[in-house]
Amino acid sequence: MGIVLRPFRAGDGQAVADLFVATVRTVNARDYEPAQVAAWSAAGADPARWARTLAGRAAFMAEVGGVVAGFADVTEQGLFDHLYVGPGHQGQGVGTALADAVEAAARAGGCVQVEAEVSVTARPFFAARGYRVVRAQDKAAHGLTFRNYVMVKDLASDGGGGA
Ligand SMILES: CC(C)(COP(=O)(O)OP(=O)(O)OC[C@H]1O[C@@H](n2cnc3c(N)ncnc32)[C@H](O)[C@@H]1OP(=O)(O)O)[C@@H](O)C(=O)NCCC(=O)NCCS
Repeated sequence: MGIVLRPFRAGDGQAVADLFVATVRTVNARDYEPAQVAAWSAAGADPARWARTLAGRAAFMAEVGGVVAGFADVTEQGLFDHLYVGPGHQGQGVGTALADAVEAAARAGGCVQVEAEVSVTARPFFAARGYRVVRAQDKAAHGLTFRNYVMVKDLASDGGGGA
């Protein structure tokens, strides 16, 4: 089934929150401790907060067969802040489609590099897309520490359609 990308809309906050919680609890749960999963998912359960966060930046929803399958966003500064694919849509190209859109938006906005704080779960996906690890960190969040990786990708050398 085809993957349709569209911009995030104000009414998408609930769908984003639901997908985020479900993905962290099932997909990221493979790589993080139960207490981390509980704190991480709880921190992303508020639809209004997602609506506020995503409203002011390039943010994309992916749909498959009319069902929300993932979302991603990037700030004006080139921070690739979120990329989450729903548990039922893993491994079907949704993450690739969203990351393509994020990188294209960053490039169109004049960024020469994108940076992401990448989970243990997503590191192989980002590495396969040409992101390199700048540093591994144990980041304090929600009263716990979370292993993640600051990863960057240069966009200028990626053949963005420029002259
Ligand atoms: C990482 C994630 C976004 C990838 O999305 P996806 O839709 O499953 O990815 P795709 O189907 O586009 O996969 C693209 C390629 O990456 C590979 N890949 C994806 N996740 C992978 C993983 N965890 N380990 C190894 N390879 C992986 C796929 O096999 C595929 O390779 P191929 O093109 O050779 O077949 C998704 O697994 C996810 O939502 N993870 C949990 C949330 C998360 O951690 N987000 C990042 C927070 S920083």
